[in-house]
Amino acid sequence: MVWGHSLDLKCDFIDRNFLHYCQNQTVLEIGCFEGWITDRIVAHNPKKLILLESHKKSVDFVVKKFPQATVIHGDMHEDLMQVGKVNVALVLGVIYHSHAPLHALEKLVNSCEPDIIILDNMQPFLDWKEEIPNEPGMRNIIDNKRTSNIVISISNEITITAMKNLGYNLVKQDEYPHPSQGWGNPIFHFEKHE
Ligand SMILES: C[S@@+](CC[C@H](N)C(=O)[O-])C[C@H]1O[C@@H](n2cnc3c(N)ncnc32)[C@H](O)[C@@H]1O
Repeated sequence: MVWGHSLDLKCDFIDRNFLHYCQNQTVLEIGCFEGWITDRIVAHNPKKLILLESHKKSVDFVVKKFPQATVIHGDMHEDLMQVGKVNVALVLGVIYHSHAPLHALEKLVNSCEPDIIILDNMQPFLDWKEEIPNEPGMRNIIDNKRTSNIVISISNEITITAMKNLGYNLVKQDEYPHPSQGWGNPIFHFEKHE
């Protein structure tokens, strides 16, 4: 299978099913990498677009590619306070690169209070593995601090329970279709209740 084609199919699927919520909203995308999904977000005309990305090369790339966006070179475990309140948060292809996924979700909710969170999980089971930080597309550390080199993935049940306890209802759950990149893995739409 051609990688570029499967990536396009994944972006098409996200675009068709989830990105219309971005229209005229303040949108945060965490872990935009080279902006494949960002391209699609921009097409939905968000009022404001904030990109939080920890890899310096990706940051430099998206600063040039999306001059209309606010780009923050930061880590989702530590720097979400810089973002402030958003309407829609997109957490795609990134939660499984975290050493502390529940901490990252707590940070997102408490720092940015998104009305809608679109979250996928490319390793939807409770597990851990070693992952060398700072390889392109992987867990990223923005300074030279020591790290455990371990990432932890969480199951659908943990994800949904954690989000419920954080004040978010699961509005929709789907999975990436075959033969798109990540096919079979879940994507969730959560909405803040109260
Ligand atoms: C696999 S890519 C996903 C790209 C795109 N979002 C997608 O779903 O196709 C993971 C991205 O998340 C970034 N990333 C990894 N750890 C991060 C962290 N702690 N905070 C912010 N971004 C991070 C990586 O640098 C990379 O750009």
